[in-house]
Amino acid sequence: MSSAVTEAVAAAPTPAAVPAAPRRRGIGEVILEVKNISLSFGGVKALTDISFDVREHEVRAIIGPNGAGKSSMLNCINGVYSPQQGRITFRGRTFDHMNSRQVAEMGIARTFQSLALFKGMSVLDNIMSGRNLKMKTNIFQQVLRNPWASAAEREETEHREFVERIVDFLEIQAYRRTPVGRLPYGLQKRVDLGRALAMQPQVLLLDEPMAGMNVEEKQDMSRFILDVNDEYGTTIVLIEHDMGVVMDISDRVVVLDYGKKIGDGTPAEVRGNPEVISAYLGTSH
Ligand SMILES: Nc1ncnc2c1ncn2[C@@H]1O[C@H](COP(=O)(O)OP(=O)(O)OP(=O)(O)O)[C@@H](O)[C@H]1O
Ligand SMILES: [Mg+2]
Repeated sequence: MSSAVTEAVAAAPTPAAVPAAPRRRGIGEVILEVKNISLSFGGVKALTDISFDVREHEVRAIIGPNGAGKSSMLNCINGVYSPQQGRITFRGRTFDHMNSRQVAEMGIARTFQSLALFKGMSVLDNIMSGRNLKMKTNIFQQVLRNPWASAAEREETEHREFVERIVDFLEIQAYRRTPVGRLPYGLQKRVDLGRALAMQPQVLLLDEPMAGMNVEEKQDMSRFILDVNDEYGTTIVLIEHDMGVVMDISDRVVVLDYGKKIGDGTPAEVRGNPEVISAYLGTSH
């Protein structure tokens, strides 16, 4: 384990500090509840009896060493994995075996640890792909000149305008027509955030949105995440390894280790938790 992380977990302030902006949105009621989730792959127990909740408008971080089960947890929430035990409740609705599309339609969007963008397509088209769920008219109606065509064109224009607003918000106007594969990694991650925002989610699940970024890129991404949270009121669930970032931008933190929950509380509570500190000792993070 690096000494930097020991310090960050134990006491130190923040390597990638974001200027503390006043938070405009008050944190609300619980909207997402994870209850007694267990998930295994053959003999591997990825998650064991995990429970935690997420309140409306909060930034909720999930941290833990490599292989702790963080991505698996998000995969359970967004319907990629079906846990063997437990339940997940979103806005009072419990879903046992929902697929990703159904979860997305309920208002939960996701970015992935490895980018899932169309590298040959432009920034605009990639973000537009996030609007698919919102489109009422189908592609045939858009192509054929039939009685629905004008409605389809109108809808298309509205979606394009929505996407342009996201592009402005994320300050990537200069790259609107650039194929995503030609952008530096930090900007690709921003486009991925834009694709998820295009779904107008109530809850945004972010799996290591700052992995591989330099300090400046991390500061930018931290600011965008807080801006999304403030301006759209989007609830954020964030997996992040950089303890400075976690301490800076999250309201509460869940700590996983070997598939078990070992900590849950405010950043200050978690970094003072001896079990959390020792979980990070001996890891590479
Ligand atoms: N599809 C899968 N098939 C088999 N095992 C899996 C699968 N997905 C995850 N696992 C296992 O579950 C455990 C938790 O993995 P997971 O990817 O959730 O960890 P993580 O906390 O996200 O780690 P990292 O910080 O490296 O991204 C690991 O032992 C992993 O090998
Ligand atoms: Mg992961």
